Amino acid sequence: MEGYKLFLAFLASALLLGVLSVAFVLVWVLNYREGLGWNGDLPEFNWHPLLIITGFVFIQGIAIIVYRLPWTWKCSKFLMKLIHAGLHTVALTLAIISLVAVFDFHNFKKIPNMYSLHSWIGLTAVILYALQLVLGYMVYLLPFAPTSLRTAVMPIHTYSGLLIFGAGIATALMGITEKLFFALTEKTVPYSQSPKEAIFVNVLGVLIVAYGAVILWIATRPHWKRPLEHVFVTHQRIGEGFGEDDCHSPDLEFNSDAAARKRNPKSDETGQRSTM
Ligand code: HEM
Ligand code: HEM
Repeated sequence: MEGYKLFLAFLASALLLGVLSVAFVLVWVLNYREGLGWNGDLPEFNWHPLLIITGFVFIQGIAIIVYRLPWTWKCSKFLMKLIHAGLHTVALTLAIISLVAVFDFHNFKKIPNMYSLHSWIGLTAVILYALQLVLGYMVYLLPFAPTSLRTAVMPIHTYSGLLIFGAGIATALMGITEKLFFALTEKTVPYSQSPKEAIFVNVLGVLIVAYGAVILWIATRPHWKRPLEHVFVTHQRIGEGFGEDDCHSPDLEFNSDAAARKRNPKSDETGQRSTM
């Protein structure tokens, strides 16, 4: 793989920034806010930032770059599709629970729903994400879609996936800022006086942006893309399930350009399409 060490540095940064973001939001709700609970009140609201940042930001980011991990290139494409789709499904589930928490909280407190730009962009992003997931399953996982359709849809799939991820990050930033304005008022220390909580949560926002930036960089480097082979197996495997052999190809050296070229000859084009 070209620039293998650089890839590892980006991946390590992504993991560090992602784990730190989740840790920061956890400390925020437990230490500075009212903790967690399911009682219609603020502890229930707090599930909203915690689950959405864990699922819709962190796990979604990992799901997006999972095909790019060079040590998975010896695994069958089918297995990688299951992992990609499975992580996105977990992310969507957490996002939905997080939305149930905030809607439930609003209804319990008789606060109007869907009045803010945050809620408009956020709900749209989650709905599009669900749609992307269903279409992804139908086009790439189930064996019915013809190769021509898979090929035609892939640029749209990639573009809309990255757009939704970016919109999720923007929504999280709006949500964080809104919450700080609501919570840090004259009754406590106002946001404008930069209390400790405000600084801490502003740092959380910076971590989320940095995480998004690293994920988008990894996902848009053409030379870090999964090589175009392994496809022949995919169609054969669909319906067969997967076994030990799905990650067994000892002759593949993922950190060698020559090995990548060997695995990725131009004549593989047809096969590559069939893996999509
Ligand atoms: C409300 C989505 C992140 C804070 C909402 C609502 C939606 C939503 C749809 C409307 C609920 C209603 O009207 O009853 C999202 C999405 C996020 C996200 C998709 C993805 C990243 C966050 C984060 C925070 C946050 C990180 C930080 C605490 C709030 C607040 C409200 C809210 C304070 C209530 C005020 C309002 O409706 O704008 N969110 N949210 N959100 N969210 Fe988020
Ligand atoms: C690739 C997003 C669901 C199959 C991608 C890429 C993105 C993405 C951004 C480009 C990755 C890269 O260039 O390395 C999403 C999102 C989803 C989703 C946001 C859910 C909401 C699915 C599902 C499947 C699927 C359910 C079904 C298996 C694929 C395939 C690729 C791909 C086959 C091509 C990977 C490659 O050849 O390198 N997806 N995806 N996706 N996705 Fe998804």
